[in-house]
Amino acid sequence: MADAKKPWGGRFEKSPSAFLEQYGASLMVDKRMWAQDIKGSIAHARMLAQQSVITEADADSIETGLSEIYREIRDGKFEFRIVDEDIHMAIERTLIERIGTAGGRLHTARSRNDQVALDTRMYAMDQAVALAHAVTSMRTTILHLAEEFHGQVMPGYTHLQKAQPVLFSHHLLAYFWMLSRDATRFRHAQESADVMPLGSAALAGTTFDIDRDSVSDRLGFSQVSQNSMDSVSDRDFLLDLTYACTVTMVHLSRLCEELILWSTEEFGFVTMDDTYATGSSIMPQKKNPDFAELTRGKTGRVVGDLVGLLTVLKGLPLAYNKDMQEDKEGVFDAIDTTLDALMAMDGMLASMHINAERMIEGAQGGFMAATDVADYLVNTGMPFRDAHEVVGRLVLECERSGRTLQELTAAEFAAVDPAFDDDVLEAVDIYAVVARRTSAGGTGNEAVLDQIMAARDVLAADAAWVEANLE
Ligand code: ARG
Repeated sequence: MADAKKPWGGRFEKSPSAFLEQYGASLMVDKRMWAQDIKGSIAHARMLAQQSVITEADADSIETGLSEIYREIRDGKFEFRIVDEDIHMAIERTLIERIGTAGGRLHTARSRNDQVALDTRMYAMDQAVALAHAVTSMRTTILHLAEEFHGQVMPGYTHLQKAQPVLFSHHLLAYFWMLSRDATRFRHAQESADVMPLGSAALAGTTFDIDRDSVSDRLGFSQVSQNSMDSVSDRDFLLDLTYACTVTMVHLSRLCEELILWSTEEFGFVTMDDTYATGSSIMPQKKNPDFAELTRGKTGRVVGDLVGLLTVLKGLPLAYNKDMQEDKEGVFDAIDTTLDALMAMDGMLASMHINAERMIEGAQGGFMAATDVADYLVNTGMPFRDAHEVVGRLVLECERSGRTLQELTAAEFAAVDPAFDDDVLEAVDIYAVVARRTSAGGTGNEAVLDQIMAARDVLAADAAWVEANLE
């Protein structure tokens, strides 16, 4: 095997050992770009014929041969051999074996350096759309939950201490907007990959009279790269895509943390569906939110993928360097992991049970109406700082006597400060506290309805983009 003839065989008297062949190969990682490689080669061959660099007959036999290889790989009938090093050589060698001389003309005016850049860009574009699609599906689930549970009150936290009551919908929609920004990042990553590098050849361009625009049009790119040296060494589009994956995973990880907390006996706000939980091999009572924990854990891997790629690229001189072959494994891992995580989390949200009573119970505690009682005093003319002081004393007293603000009578309020009237009881009602947050983007019932409308519009626009760009 180690002695199989290399495409650069002419210059060499010896071949690398079987070990080095294995060490230098990327085939097992980059073979997933087989479809992009074949489409790119067909476009390149057709352009070469159009420019009379090769004959139409040669281009025809190249296209027929490549289409046959395409079907074989698709149907799992193609044998991948490490000796080919990478997907580009595996396909080209097979083509030449089958069609002879014409196959040997395919690589005219092309290098693997611009070829791998092309394949990777095409693959990244497809995956960015798939990721935007997955993010959009999960946002649809979140929006449906927000609509279904509109009016459901729960405690809102800062420092993980009870702060002010909020609508459960409002809390959920916070994740909708995080994921909306993720969708925008994936759209951007798709655009940043959408630049056609072929024709840059090894680094300097080519002496042949090629037509790069026609290759670009055949492959559906919206622009052609401007500098051949940049084209073969630019992996910014992979950084953009991996960064978008990383931020998405960080968002999912935050959601996971909340779901894990919420499904404890102490919180009890949600119960995972059996299909999204696991038991213990020793403790019969256990029901663990494993998949939320796993997603939180996988976030570390994806962060590592981004740091890995940044580190591969730093300090690379122009133009192509073999270091860059290390770009794909981490990026593919980031893509796969993020797609899986989005699918798992989507199903988890859609299937979990919401414990409404526990949420309301939680919202009654923690003196969460305190800000509103202070605001009430401000409305009677008291400066906010004084009102803060009065309510602070009130809370301290409640704490001593083991009562909530809602359990106090109007007379008890008035005993603390004469500015309190009977209508203070309305001020502490937990539903009224929420509804009063009428400011745009606040948790008030009306404001959240407006938010839901805005979310529907943004979602529809992203779904239309996905639809238009999906393969
Ligand atoms: N397998 C290589 C990669 O992924 C393809 C480009 C190789 N070019 C070269 N001159 N060795 O980067």
